[in-house]
Amino acid sequence: MSSRVVKYAVIGVGGHGVNRHIVPLLSIPNVKLVAIADINKPRCEEVASKYNTKCYTDYVDMISKEEVDAVSIVTPTGLHATIAIDVLKSGVHVLVDKPLGANLNEVVNVVKTANKMNKKVMVGYWSRFSPALQYAVEVYKNGLLGEPYYAYGFLIRRRGIPGSPTFIDKKLSGGKGALLDIGCYIIDNLLTATGFRKPLSVTGAVYTKFGNIADEVRFNWGAWDSSKFELEDFATGFIRFEGGLTMAFEVAWAANVSHVGEVGYMRVLGDRGGIEARGNEAMKDVSFHSRSENYLYDAKPVLRSANMAQEMLKSFICSIIEDREPPVTGYQSIILHSIIDAVYTSSNMGREVKIVLPEI
Ligand SMILES: NC(=O)c1ccc[n+]([C@@H]2O[C@H](COP(=O)([O-])OP(=O)(O)OC[C@H]3O[C@@H](n4cnc5c(N)ncnc54)[C@H](O)[C@@H]3O)[C@@H](O)[C@H]2O)c1
Repeated sequence: MSSRVVKYAVIGVGGHGVNRHIVPLLSIPNVKLVAIADINKPRCEEVASKYNTKCYTDYVDMISKEEVDAVSIVTPTGLHATIAIDVLKSGVHVLVDKPLGANLNEVVNVVKTANKMNKKVMVGYWSRFSPALQYAVEVYKNGLLGEPYYAYGFLIRRRGIPGSPTFIDKKLSGGKGALLDIGCYIIDNLLTATGFRKPLSVTGAVYTKFGNIADEVRFNWGAWDSSKFELEDFATGFIRFEGGLTMAFEVAWAANVSHVGEVGYMRVLGDRGGIEARGNEAMKDVSFHSRSENYLYDAKPVLRSANMAQEMLKSFICSIIEDREPPVTGYQSIILHSIIDAVYTSSNMGREVKIVLPEI
């Protein structure tokens, strides 16, 4: 990195804003945390005092008063796009924690604004910095899968409906449940491992089976009012891509499965080799399966350990300093959200829906 210092601010300093943005930022050279913004004044002041920075309760005020080059946006999802567009319009680069917006329309508007303002937009999928996923990408790019024809994955919690309004209040969550909140990870992982091909059609279904049950078991993720729960807690989808690849996924905040915690799994099948990976939102373990002349064989890479949140932030800072495209692009989120939106539409209509990617 050059010696240029990027002046940085974080908008939304709840759990994730502190643990996955402020804390990893502090040990990255070339970055100075100049301010934070959060509508929760006591929380904002507490975090500002702990990390020796300035606190604002209005991010617009912060951007106008402070000299800021870049921000992380770590507010509830329903606010991501509005805040990102405001900040981009002020000429500031943005790292938006996942997902980039609540729907495709919002995502397109953020990407268009970034292009117009010639500012960077990166999406905070820390899962992209998983060495296991990066190995899967290397295998794919080196042609070791041959032609990938099928990808499958799931991200399932047995009982993990989040109790916090950030995730289940319809306005804050963007009006969507498990599919948008954690489905975005497994779909992003699968798209990453298969090169973000162009989706053609989607068949999907979403269900609410646990969140609206008054005496449902609450398990470590907080309580919620079941009479007001209106979001999906399970979703499945089947996607066809240009070139013949198909993809299927399952995602659940709650399901009657054997494991208790959040478990993620993915496989990509090609005609020369296959990848299997396990983890949660981020893959932690990966293996490659193929054949030699006379044998079937399995390979397991020795993976480095990684501070994924920090690598994510570093790559964003580098993309600003070196003026290059960030590694997790807005355009990739257009593909991702075209799929997510189509799952809801398909579920409502009870049939397959075609995808036409918007012009950018
Ligand atoms: N990448 C991950 O693994 C991961 C994990 C958890 C959460 N997240 C994402 O991070 C975001 C926040 O999640 P969290 O768990 O930190 O939630 P949280 O509820 O702990 O924090 C959200 C914070 O945003 C603040 N806020 C709300 N409106 C605001 C506004 N207009 N301006 C400034 N601040 C505002 C709230 O006061 C709160 O402090 C969500 O979009 C979520 O999807 C990502």
